Amino acid sequence: MRLGVNIDHIATVREARKTYEPDPVKGALIAQDAGADQITFHLREDRRHIQDEDVIRLRCVIKRIPLNMEMAPTEEMKKIAINIKPERVTLVPEKREEITTEGGLDVSGMKDYLKEFIKEIKQEGIDVALFIDPEKNQIEASVEVGADAVELHTGEYANAETEERRNKELKRLKEASKFAKEKGFKVFAGHGLTYTNVQPVASIPEIEELNIGHSIIANSVFLGLDEAVRKMKKLIKEVREEF
Ligand code: PXP
Repeated sequence: MRLGVNIDHIATVREARKTYEPDPVKGALIAQDAGADQITFHLREDRRHIQDEDVIRLRCVIKRIPLNMEMAPTEEMKKIAINIKPERVTLVPEKREEITTEGGLDVSGMKDYLKEFIKEIKQEGIDVALFIDPEKNQIEASVEVGADAVELHTGEYANAETEERRNKELKRLKEASKFAKEKGFKVFAGHGLTYTNVQPVASIPEIEELNIGHSIIANSVFLGLDEAVRKMKKLIKEVREEF
């Protein structure tokens, strides 16, 4: 199983002071050396963490592993993606007032728009994943719009306050993973995953990649980024030896 390390919150710390450190690009290189299989970043419309310049620098230095650009499906972001050429674009919903991406993309509610949008990005040789809630209708809509992959939103699972609720959400993720794989998708997952809740999700056989950011970066304050990444990789490996 691959681990995509999301470096946004290195930039969040930098932007708290609008200074030059810590540098998310340096973080990407450390994560790569620690075993990250992909670097993920989210260029938000409000530029609250990652800046346009970071994206250009990331593309210049990250060559050994893929770059996964999370972005809202807007014309502005499409232009940037086509210019930068990350290996993958992951389309996410975005609301200015939210603290983090709160739910999956409503693919079924914007099929015509997404069909054209995805086609233009794929023409440039960039893979397209859709960040969706683990729901059958969103997976079916993702087929219709021509996505290459789906990333299932694990936020409801991660935020579940009771064991019963967590188990219910895990079951939803398992069923959606199976369904998405049957539809021919590469299946990824992410959001809110931590050292304590990652293993049940990593155990779902259809899921081939996790994208994890906040918890790894938060733990890097105490452990260092290298160790924070290695620890997550080790936990995943414990349950997915075959990868
Ligand atoms: N995957 C996607 C599509 C996301 O939008 C995010 C958050 O930016 C993540 C994964 C990582 O979530 P977290 O920072 O909670 O690990």
